[in-house]
Amino acid sequence: MCGIVGYIGTKQAYPILINGLHRLEYRGYDSAGVALLNDKSLNVYKAKGKVSDLEEAAKDKDCGGVLGIAHTRWATHGEPSVTNAHPHESESGNLALVHNGIIENYAILREQLQAKGYHFQSATDTEVLVQLIEYYENKHQCDIISAVRYALNKVIGAYAIVLIDKRQPKTLIAARKSSPLVIGIGNEENTEFFIASDASPIAEYTSHVVYIDDEQIVKIELGKEMEISTLQAEHVDVDVTEIDVDLNMLDKGGFPHFMLKEIFDQPKCLEDCMRGRLEAMDKRLKIEPENIQYGINLSAVKQYRAQLMNAHRFIIVACGTSWHAGLIGKQLFETFCKIPVQVEYASEFRYRKPVIKEDDVVFAISQSGETADTLAAIELARSKGAFVFGIVNAVGSSIARNSNTGTYIHVGPEIGVASTKAFTGQLTVLTMLALTLGHEKGFLSDADFSHYTEELSKIPSMISKVLKQNEKIAEIAKTFTYAHNFLYLGRGWNFPVALEGALKLKEISYIHAEGYPAAEMKHGPIALIDADMPVLFVATHHQEYQKIVSNMEEVKARGGRIIAVVTEGDEQVSEIADQVIEVPQTLNFLAPLLSVIPLQMLAYHVAVLKGLNVDMPRNLAKSVTVE
Ligand code: AGP
Repeated sequence: MCGIVGYIGTKQAYPILINGLHRLEYRGYDSAGVALLNDKSLNVYKAKGKVSDLEEAAKDKDCGGVLGIAHTRWATHGEPSVTNAHPHESESGNLALVHNGIIENYAILREQLQAKGYHFQSATDTEVLVQLIEYYENKHQCDIISAVRYALNKVIGAYAIVLIDKRQPKTLIAARKSSPLVIGIGNEENTEFFIASDASPIAEYTSHVVYIDDEQIVKIELGKEMEISTLQAEHVDVDVTEIDVDLNMLDKGGFPHFMLKEIFDQPKCLEDCMRGRLEAMDKRLKIEPENIQYGINLSAVKQYRAQLMNAHRFIIVACGTSWHAGLIGKQLFETFCKIPVQVEYASEFRYRKPVIKEDDVVFAISQSGETADTLAAIELARSKGAFVFGIVNAVGSSIARNSNTGTYIHVGPEIGVASTKAFTGQLTVLTMLALTLGHEKGFLSDADFSHYTEELSKIPSMISKVLKQNEKIAEIAKTFTYAHNFLYLGRGWNFPVALEGALKLKEISYIHAEGYPAAEMKHGPIALIDADMPVLFVATHHQEYQKIVSNMEEVKARGGRIIAVVTEGDEQVSEIADQVIEVPQTLNFLAPLLSVIPLQMLAYHVAVLKGLNVDMPRNLAKSVTVE
């Protein structure tokens, strides 16, 4: 979704802003713009399309200035166009503003402002906001911070904004509500500040950041300490945090696409996820185990043992791929901890009247940590007294900060819109959690616990083995680019994998794909099967193996074409299927960590063969910060 970058300092702002916009491209967008302030003028350049189109539009123009704001827009109000792109300017041209989020009461405010003589160029809600700030400045003859405060108290909705005032060439103003904003503090005191909607455009310049909280306004003035206040004009102390972002993770590292790199990064990422937490992994990595007493060391579990052990129910809230991880989490918690688990789409949960109790633990799973629905779901859960546990990738993100506690998945920034390494990272954390709690509760013997953790530690090297089949999977993909529809079937542990495989294909190849529990096929989808409908079976060895073989026979009997993901050495399925991809043998509950890998690769290769934009598929955003 929309991305924001701002800079004020001693260097030229334009290259820093453009670099930042490139870093934010992964979020998904359809236009971009920049506003630069120098002693002569406030210059605003915009373009429909990519950041490179913006660079083209700004070529040969005055791009000087040490202060600027920039934006990538993902259209909500008004089509993608130059006019609707941000920054938007006020009537007088004194103010320029970039905005993420949605101003819900923009239509009425716009009418009121029009009645007072304000003119609008765009169809956006953002332009209403910048005009409203100017209106209050004129009405109350006040300073710009007060005008921002008046305006933000009037609007309903979500926002992260950054504002430039032409008359104040040393000042940037920002504010947020339900949309993230982070400020980077340059290495020399008060001489340089960065601002962005996530840390990725900032990380290469500084590791010192300040996360702005909801309903806070920030004034950044060169040469001075930054000032933070609330919408009620109360002072807020500045809380500086240190971030640690691996810059290599922000680059493609020789791969043609981020998605492929992230698929191939998974062995290393899962090692990182388990390092210092899983004793068996530390032994494998030959690193001195750090105080690991019980085989798995999750600090959140130690610290909040009572809440987790005494819970009567777990509720998992998430969206998309993270919801699929939640479905596997349910099976893990039910199997090992014998506790009832509900898995909820955050978007539905927040608007139902769910029964939430004080002894419920709500797990929020999110790669970005900024998904608006998941954030709202945990706010609801907390308001009912439930304990919220975040399973999040983006460090310092809103969900991480709004949870009571949590475990980061630590797989590094995920840039490709289609989630890959975050999914396997989420599964790894869920597995460690379920094994730890199951063992603590006495449902897992010491012997089983240690066997299971040992097997979990082998997963990264097993994934490396699956990745060796990349070329074979690319070949298989060639056979299926013709397809308009695809069915993904799996049972038990592999049913959520089927859902995830179908989602991956849909997202990046635009082929309609449905995931189903294999046994449900005969209750409807079987009607669709013919020679033009490839069916992918996730058929690794587990207790329902024979049943899934029967489901395959049913497809074959109707002329369907079958691709199957099987366990190494499988002979029965290979007899029936047209194409077979092998994954190593592991324990049932660990199978999804392996069986999902070929599905990620298949989706990737089909999309590449179709010539599509794999990392930034149409209409999709990486971080869904609006509902
Ligand atoms: C995954 O490939 C998707 N892009 C999407 O479904 C995603 O998982 C969903 O939007 C949730 O995002 P989150 O994990 O950042 O909360």
